[in-house]
Amino acid sequence: MNQNYPFVNPPLPYDYDALEPYIDTGTMILHHDAHLQTYVDNLNKLLRDYPQFQMMTLTGLIQNLDSLPYEIAEGVKNNAGGVYNHIMYFNQLTPAENYKEMDGKLLEMTQQRFGSADALRAELKKAALSVFGSGNAWLVTDRNGTLQVVTTKNQDNPFASGLRPILIIDVWEHAYYLKHYNKRAEYIDDFFQVIDWEKVGERLS
Ligand SMILES: [Fe+2]
Repeated sequence: MNQNYPFVNPPLPYDYDALEPYIDTGTMILHHDAHLQTYVDNLNKLLRDYPQFQMMTLTGLIQNLDSLPYEIAEGVKNNAGGVYNHIMYFNQLTPAENYKEMDGKLLEMTQQRFGSADALRAELKKAALSVFGSGNAWLVTDRNGTLQVVTTKNQDNPFASGLRPILIIDVWEHAYYLKHYNKRAEYIDDFFQVIDWEKVGERLS
């Protein structure tokens, strides 16, 4: 997340239909080309007249919202979060035929904190179901480096609270409504079929 102004929407690291049947092509096209693109465009618009903040990275903006002028702070929070959260979301998914269970340091830390990979998935699902309205569920590490499951509203990002995001589950309806309608639990089960645990594990370092 080291890019800075003008921000760009990176292409998906796989085809739009690569996550079928778990996440459908139509959702992926809309989610990437419309929703993420809008966050990118809005963030660029907000920073266009503020050259003093154009060198800041996405992470830097999210971690330093207090230093931004009042008139753009809320917009930058929502749109920098929207860009960061969506790039992170798309980059951690992989076609189901490539699925591999977590291993290495991530598995070890998961077993220590939650007991097992299945227990972590259950925690994440519970958290994702608990989000009222639009938001995200996360696996993060806290200041002690311990794994935690947290939720955020809208496009807030755990970096703003001093936590390091490791995995994100987007539970905005736009992430699943076309295929799963209002059945968020089914979307979450399908999401777990296409998660790239190796990518998630890399975020620990
Ligand atoms: Fe989204």
